[in-house]
Amino acid sequence: MRPRSAAQRTMSPSGGLFLLLIVWPLSALGEGPRGGYGWSNVTCTTCKVLLIVLDASLQVESNMERVAEVAVTVCRTLHLEEPGICDQVVQLFKRDVITAWVMSVLRPSEFCGLLLGTDCGHWDIGSEWNITLPPKPKPPIQPPVPPRPGSPVSRVLFITDIHWDHGYAPGAPTTCKEPLCCRNHSSSGGRNPSGYWGAYSNCDLPLHTIESLLQHVATNASFDRVYWTGDIPAHNVWEQTRAQQLDALRSITGLIRKYLGPVPVYPAVGNHESAPVNSFPPPSIYGNLSSSWLYNAMAQEWEGWLPASALDTLRIAGFYTTKIAPDLRLVSLNMNFCAVENFWLMINYTDPAGQLQWLVGVLQEAEDNYEKVHIIGHIPPGLCLKSWSWNYYRIVNRYESTIAAQFFGHTHLDEFEIFYDEETLSRPLSVAFISPSVTTFINLNPGFRVYQVDGEYPHSSHVVLDHETYILNLTEANKKPNEVPQWSLLYSALSTYRMKSAYPSDWEDLVQRFIHDDQLFQTFWFLHHKGHVSEVCQEFCKTDVICGLRTGRSGDLQLCKDLDGRGKLAHKKKSLC
Ligand SMILES: *[C@@H]1O[C@H](CO)[C@@H](O)[C@H](O)[C@H]1NC(C)=O
Ligand SMILES: *[C@@H]1O[C@H](CO)[C@@H](O)[C@H](O)[C@H]1NC(C)=O
Ligand SMILES: *[C@@H]1O[C@H](CO)[C@@H](O)[C@H](O)[C@H]1NC(C)=O
Ligand SMILES: *[C@@H]1O[C@H](CO)[C@@H](O)[C@H](O)[C@H]1NC(C)=O
Ligand SMILES: *[C@@H]1O[C@H](CO)[C@@H](O)[C@H](O)[C@H]1NC(C)=O
Ligand SMILES: *[C@@H]1O[C@H](CO)[C@@H](O)[C@H](O)[C@H]1NC(C)=O
Ligand SMILES: *[C@@H]1O[C@H](CO)[C@@H](O)[C@H](O)[C@H]1NC(C)=O
Ligand SMILES: [Zn+2]
Ligand SMILES: [Zn+2]
Repeated sequence: MRPRSAAQRTMSPSGGLFLLLIVWPLSALGEGPRGGYGWSNVTCTTCKVLLIVLDASLQVESNMERVAEVAVTVCRTLHLEEPGICDQVVQLFKRDVITAWVMSVLRPSEFCGLLLGTDCGHWDIGSEWNITLPPKPKPPIQPPVPPRPGSPVSRVLFITDIHWDHGYAPGAPTTCKEPLCCRNHSSSGGRNPSGYWGAYSNCDLPLHTIESLLQHVATNASFDRVYWTGDIPAHNVWEQTRAQQLDALRSITGLIRKYLGPVPVYPAVGNHESAPVNSFPPPSIYGNLSSSWLYNAMAQEWEGWLPASALDTLRIAGFYTTKIAPDLRLVSLNMNFCAVENFWLMINYTDPAGQLQWLVGVLQEAEDNYEKVHIIGHIPPGLCLKSWSWNYYRIVNRYESTIAAQFFGHTHLDEFEIFYDEETLSRPLSVAFISPSVTTFINLNPGFRVYQVDGEYPHSSHVVLDHETYILNLTEANKKPNEVPQWSLLYSALSTYRMKSAYPSDWEDLVQRFIHDDQLFQTFWFLHHKGHVSEVCQEFCKTDVICGLRTGRSGDLQLCKDLDGRGKLAHKKKSLC
C-alpha cells in the first residue's frame, strides 16, 4: 500500500494492466515470497522477453495449454509466488486472459509500455478518446448556500470493501507464505495467532465481525439509506470460483437485508466480485465468458432495492440509475470499465460499455428536470485509465451544478480526491469522497462511514455536510472474544479538521493546511489508516499523499507542480484492493 515514486516504478504489484499474459494475475497478489526474485525485479527487458515468448507460443501453436505451461514455468522460476499458487492462478485465469489477448490489438512492447511506463515501450492505441457533450450551454454556477439551521439532514450509511473470508480461522497464523493469511489452510511459518474478530495483517474478516458491524448499525442508529460499493469476497483470488463469489454475494446481501430491513440499499459492483478477480468483459462478449452469471445474480439479489429499469442495465453491464428522492437521482457506476486491472479492456478501451456517454445522458436529463445526482462507484476516478479519467473529469466539470456528491471505496483507506475547473485547475468544484474499508486488509481496524447530507426538503442541495467514521478497535475487541465488541466513533470530519463546512473549497483549504501544519497532516495520516498506522509519512510520502488528494484525474502532474515537483503519479499506483 505504500506509495512508490515514479522513478522506482519497475513492475509494481499494482502495475496491473495488460499483464504478463497469464502471469499478470499474480501481480494482483502483491509481492511474492520473501527473498529471491519477485515483482520488484522484473525489468523492462524481462517484461519484453517474457511477452515475446508468450506471444510467440500463442501465435504459433494457438494452444492454451502450452501457454499455460510456459506461464507456470515463468511464475515458478521467478518465484513470483508459491508453486501451488502459480498453478492455481494460471488454471483460473487462462481462459479469460488468453481470449482477451487473442482479441486484443496490443503487442509485447506496448504491453510493457503500459505496464512499466513510457520508458519501456511506446503505446498509444486508444490512448485518447472523447465523449460527446450535448450542445446545451452549462448553466451559471451558483455558489453553495448553507442550509438554514434546523433543516432536515439525511444520514447515509456507507459500507465498502467488506472482503468476507469464509476461511478465516481464529488462531491461524497472521503471517504465512500465501498472499492472504489467518486462514484455515494458511501455511504456518508465523507464530502470531489471529484474533477472534480479525487481525492486523494480510487478513480479511470472519463473518461474525461483519455481522457484528451490521448488528451495531441496526441497533445504534437509524439511516435514510445505504450506499454499498462492493468488494464482497476475500483476497484469496488464486482459488476463487464463480460459485464461491455468488455465495458471498448472496450471504452478505442476506445479512444486510436481515439487519437493515426496510432501509433502501444501493450497491455498486467492485473489482473482486468476479472470478477471476478483475475480469469484467464488456457487453460485446456473449456466452459463458460474459459477466451475465454475476450481473443476473446481482439483479436477482437486489430486486427489492432497485426498480426494473435499473435492474435492466445492471444485467447488461453492471451499472444503473434510479431516482431515490423527489429531486435526487443516484448513479451507480461499474468502475471496472475504467480499471487498469481489467484485462478485457485491451480489446477496446474506448468508453467500455458506453458507460460515460450514458452518464452524460443521465446527467443532462437530470439537469433538464432540476434533479441533483449522487454518483457512487467502487474504484475512485483518479485511479482509472487516463483517458477514461480525463473524460470523467470533463463530465464532472460540465455538470458540477447537478452532481451533488461522489462516493467511492476500493483503496481501503480514508481519503478524497478534489476536482478543479479544467480551465485554470484552481477553483475546486467537486470532491470524490473515498471511504475506508470494512476489512482490515492490510493492517487496519475494521470500519464504516456515515455521511450527513443536506435534505430532504424542497430544493435541498443534497451535498455532504459532514461525515463520521466508526471503527472496531481490534486490540480491544480481541481481548474479549466472548463479549459484544464496541464499535465506536473514530472522528467527525468538521470538528476534527476544524472546518466550517464540507464544500469543495473547504477540502482544498484543508489540503493547504496539511502542507504547512504537519501535526494536522499526521492526524490525517492516522485517520487515513483508521487509527492503526504502521509507517510514518514524511517528505516524499507526504507530498505523494497530498498530490493524490488533489488529483481527481489520473496522470495529471499539473496539480502537484507546486508540491516541489516530486508528487508524481506514484500515489495513484495503489492496488491490492
Ligand atoms: C530483487 O530486488 C530486491 C529489492 O529490490 C533485491 O534485494 C534482490 O536482491 C533482487 N533479487 C535479484 C535476484 O536480483
Ligand atoms: C479530444 O479533445 C481534445 C480537447 O478538446 C482534443 O485536443 C483532442 O484532439 C480530442 N481527441 C480526439 C481523439 O478526438
Ligand atoms: C477448516 O475449515 C473446515 C470447514 O470450514 C473445518 O471442517 C476444518 O476442521 C477446518 N480445519 C482446521 C485445521 O481448522
Ligand atoms: C449500541 O447498542 C447496544 C445495544 O443496544 C449498546 O449495548 C451499546 O452500548 C451501544 N453502543 C454504542 C457505541 O452506542
Ligand atoms: C461456464 O464457465 C464456468 C467457469 O469457467 C464453468 O465452470 C462452467 O462449466 C461453464 N459452463 C458452460 C455451460 O460451459
Ligand atoms: C471501441 O468501442 C468504441 C465505442 O463503443 C467504438 O466507437 C470503436 O469503434 C471501437 N474500436 C474498435 C477498434 O473496435
Ligand atoms: C485501540 O486500543 C488500544 C489498546 O487499548 C489503544 O492503545 C489504541 O490507542 C486504540 N486505538 C484507537 C484508534 O483508539
Ligand atoms: Zn477493490
Ligand atoms: Zn477492496
